Amino acid sequence: MQIFMDTANIDEIRRGAALGVVDGVTTNPSLLAKEGVEYRDRVLEIASVVDGPISAECISTEFEPLLAEARRIAAWHENVVVKIPMGEVGLQAIHRLSAEGIKINVTLIFSANQALLAAKAGATFVSPFVGRLNDGGQDGMAVIRESVEIFENYDLDTQVLAASIRGARDVTECALAGSHVATIPSAVLFQMMGHPLTDKGIEIFLRDAQKYSAV
Ligand code: G3P
Repeated sequence: MQIFMDTANIDEIRRGAALGVVDGVTTNPSLLAKEGVEYRDRVLEIASVVDGPISAECISTEFEPLLAEARRIAAWHENVVVKIPMGEVGLQAIHRLSAEGIKINVTLIFSANQALLAAKAGATFVSPFVGRLNDGGQDGMAVIRESVEIFENYDLDTQVLAASIRGARDVTECALAGSHVATIPSAVLFQMMGHPLTDKGIEIFLRDAQKYSAV
């Protein structure tokens, strides 16, 4: 499974990239707003740290402005994937832009039907929001499983990019569900590395290592 970081914070991205496990980055207007920087500037900084897909989101809601905004964002860097919210205008834009060779991550996906339509329109990635579905008492992981199965049934090239990840267990379940990608908040990624028994084991080894000479 590919691991993306779900953040626009460059320090967190540098820390994650140093682990050698980060394959890409996703951002959105809420994540960027936390940083107080210009979108293009931050995306170019991220591109200098992570050599992989970097999702940057459009906010236009009308067709022609959305096409123009997506083309501007796509031109920022060759690794940029343009994020477009699911909907009728979004599908029209995805259909047009994908034919131009622009990679699209369709965001705010909450059903397998939305994922299927986005894939047929030409999406590179679809982003089902697992956490927000679970927050509402629905089964977010079911949308991941169903989308993966549908794409496999019809040999669709679109990748399922599990988003709105709330904890380390979500990552395990995404991998078990066959999600192509999970985009993981920094806190969850750094939490995944640790385990109390690992810490305890290191403590015991260091204690016992005192009984022989350092190598
Ligand atoms: O990539 C989408 C993700 O950032 C949304 O997460 O926690 O706002 O549902 P959340």
